Amino acid sequence: MRRFASLSLAVLALTSLTVAAQTAPKPSPANAHPVKTHAAASPVIAATPPMGWNSWNFFAGKVTDKDIRGAADQMVATGMKDAGYIYVNIDDTWEGKRDADGVLHTNDKFPDMKALADYVHSKGLKIGIYSSPGPKTCAGFEGSLGHEEQDAQLYASWGIDYLKYDLCSFIPVVMYKQAPNDPAERMRIMIAAYDKMGNALKTTGRPIVFSLCSYGWDAVWEWAPGIGGNLWRTTGDVQANWQSIYNIVGQNAGLAKYAGPGHWNDPDMLEVGNGKMSLEENRSHFSMWAMLAAPLLAGNDLPNMKPEIKAILTNKDVIAIDQDKLGRQGTRAYEGGEVEVWTRHLSGGAMAVAVLNAGDNRYSTHPFHLDLAKLGLHGPQKGKDLWTGNDVTLTDNQPIELASHDILLVRIVAPK
Ligand code: GLA
Repeated sequence: MRRFASLSLAVLALTSLTVAAQTAPKPSPANAHPVKTHAAASPVIAATPPMGWNSWNFFAGKVTDKDIRGAADQMVATGMKDAGYIYVNIDDTWEGKRDADGVLHTNDKFPDMKALADYVHSKGLKIGIYSSPGPKTCAGFEGSLGHEEQDAQLYASWGIDYLKYDLCSFIPVVMYKQAPNDPAERMRIMIAAYDKMGNALKTTGRPIVFSLCSYGWDAVWEWAPGIGGNLWRTTGDVQANWQSIYNIVGQNAGLAKYAGPGHWNDPDMLEVGNGKMSLEENRSHFSMWAMLAAPLLAGNDLPNMKPEIKAILTNKDVIAIDQDKLGRQGTRAYEGGEVEVWTRHLSGGAMAVAVLNAGDNRYSTHPFHLDLAKLGLHGPQKGKDLWTGNDVTLTDNQPIELASHDILLVRIVAPK
C-alpha cells in the first residue's frame, strides 16, 4: 500500500544518489553560507512541534481529494483533533502542469484545492502541501524551480498553512550540474534554494510552517533556523519497521541543542499503526518521538484505525511531553547493554525519563538496573508511568524488565 512501483523506482534512484552524495566531503564552516537571523515574528510559528497527519506513509502516490477530506473528518471523529493534531498535510502527487503564465494547476486527483482547503479549515483544522526546489518532486511531479514566489502566492491564495519542501531533483539537476566537483558550493546552492522559498512564504504574509526535507544533509540543523525553517528532516525516509525507527532514534541522539520553539529536528513522520510493528514497538516509537520533541505527523489509515493504535496516538500524557512549552529536546543519558535511558527536561522543573529496551529478547535473566546518578537524580523519584497511568517511584539500582522493544516512560514532577 505504501508506494506505486514506478514511484518506488524514482525514489530509489534518488535515494542512491542521496547516499552517494552524503559521502561527499562536508564544506568547512568558513566556507558555509552565512546564517541570517530573521526578526522574530509574532506569534511564533510552530512554537511547539507541529502535530497533524500526512498522506504519504499510508497513501503514497494514490492520495486523492477524497482521502484528504476523509482524513480531516476522521481527525475530528476519532478525537485526534482534540488531542492536538491540527495539520492535514497533502504530500507528493497532487501537482498537475503549469499553464502559459507559469501558474501551477492541480492534477485530476485534486479538482479544487481552494475548496479542499476550505473544507479542512471548516473542521477547525489546517492544511499542508508539498513541493520541491527542483524541477520535479521525488515522485516525478512538477516542482517549484523558477516559480518559487508564484507558487508561494498560489499556496497562500488557497489558504495553505504548511509547506514541506523536498530537495529531490534539485540535487542532480541543479546542485551537481552547477558544481559537480565542489561540495561547499553545492551546499551554498541548496541553502540559497531553501532561503528563496522561505522568503517567498514570508512575503505572502500568511503564517505558513516551513518544513525542510533534505534528509539531514550538510548539517541542516545548523543553518535551517537561520533561513526560517520551522522543522528539518534529520535522516532519510522512515519505514514502518523497528529497525528503521531505532536507527532514526540513534541518528537524532546528538541534535538536542538545535531544537527549540519555532525550529525542530524532524526524525520523519510517524509510522504508528503502519506495517507489522508490535504494540510495544508502536509505543516506543511514539514515546521516543515525544522525547525527541519531534513533529507528530501521523501517517496511518485513520478511517480504519484500531482502538489500541488510537490509544497510543492520543495518549495525552505522552503528547504533553512532546509539546512541552520549554521546547528542550531529550538526550540519551546512558546505555547499558541494549537498554537506553533518555531524559528530557520539561517546563516547571519536571523531567521525563524513558527506558527503552532495544534488544530482541526480554531481559529476564539479566534485568537492567537503573542508575539514577547517571540521570543527575538522587534518591527515590515519584512520578507517573505514562503508559499504565499508574503512580511509580523510581529508585536507584531498581531492576527494570521490559519486553523486547518496549519502553518505560515516566514523568517526574519534582526531580531531585
Ligand atoms: C521523499 C520524502 C518523503 C516523501 C516522498 C514523496 O522520499 O523524503 O517523505 O515526501 O519523497 O515523493
